[in-house]
Amino acid sequence: MKILSGIQPSGKLHIGNYFGMMKTMISHMENSDLYVFIVDLHALTSVHDRERLATGTLEAAADFLALGLDPEKCTFWVQSDVPEVCELAWILSTLTPMGLMERCHSYKDKVAKGIDASHGLFSYPVLMAADILLYQADQVPVGKDQKQHLEVARDIAQKFNTTFGETFTVPEPAISTRTATVPGLDGQKMSKSYGNTIPIFMEGKALKKKVMSIATDATPVEDPKDPDTCNLFAMLKLFAPATRLQEIRDLYVNGGAAYGYIKLELLDLINDYYADARKRKAEYLADPEMLRAVLKKGGEKAREKAAVTLDLVRDRVGLKY
Ligand code: ADP
Ligand code: TRP
Repeated sequence: MKILSGIQPSGKLHIGNYFGMMKTMISHMENSDLYVFIVDLHALTSVHDRERLATGTLEAAADFLALGLDPEKCTFWVQSDVPEVCELAWILSTLTPMGLMERCHSYKDKVAKGIDASHGLFSYPVLMAADILLYQADQVPVGKDQKQHLEVARDIAQKFNTTFGETFTVPEPAISTRTATVPGLDGQKMSKSYGNTIPIFMEGKALKKKVMSIATDATPVEDPKDPDTCNLFAMLKLFAPATRLQEIRDLYVNGGAAYGYIKLELLDLINDYYADARKRKAEYLADPEMLRAVLKKGGEKAREKAAVTLDLVRDRVGLKY
């Protein structure tokens, strides 16, 4: 089974990215043909700052390795190191219906959040389809926000296959319901572009400040509260052991849950959860040449696989004369 997913290096990776995608990908390392990549070409749709993009790419690589991804057990690379993806994106764009693109809500959401409306931002889903189809992925683990993009990739694959003959595997999304959408500090979806994240590798006072700023309502401590509509409880679910979670749930339901204390407990849990990974990340960041070498090797491996699909595609559409 080929499992593939990518992440944008457009800002510090956060716990929504971790539980929505990274953790699942890392868990597939032993039992599947795994493809993990950093989508710098996609990040260019929102980042026009040389330093931020380049540093973000290396940092995202360090994050994955620190969190346990073993580049020997998967193909791990940077999207732009495989230029074949751009050629495929163009070919796919010539048979992508405009109506399909116009229905994509992510474009409208991003523009509403202040990202410049560019052609790249609009055609983002076609490049994403090319990412997936180039490697003939069977399954794509993503957060719920990417579901529509996966549907676009499936539609494009099917359209290509009916137009030019069976060529692409039609990919399936893999969305874990427990972590489909990790809420941010303000209760909206946690996202780099919404400024409401808890970065995975933040520590000390900065992390404490973030956790203490998680939005909660003004219900007094002794009053009953609904854990299932509480943003803080949703985050706690990701980190707390089952027995402790049940105790806190009881406090919510019966009264006695003090948000301030629960936030401090969440802070401890986050610190414990990522303690080892933080040490490893510091080691990786201290050796950027090693990171570049890992990514370069991964890029070469990915490029060999990409070339096989692209050769077939070129033949199917008539670019081989
Ligand atoms: P962001 O919205 O922070 O820019 P990306 O779009 O780069 O994040 O997403 C990378 C991966 O992380 C995708 O699979 C996405 O679905 C997942 N993801 C991002 N935010 C969340 C979230 N809040 N909850 C669950 N998964 C998320
Ligand atoms: N659009 C995805 C996101 O913002 C990132 C992405 C690009 C991706 N190409 C991909 C995810 C291919 C899965 C497969 O999260």
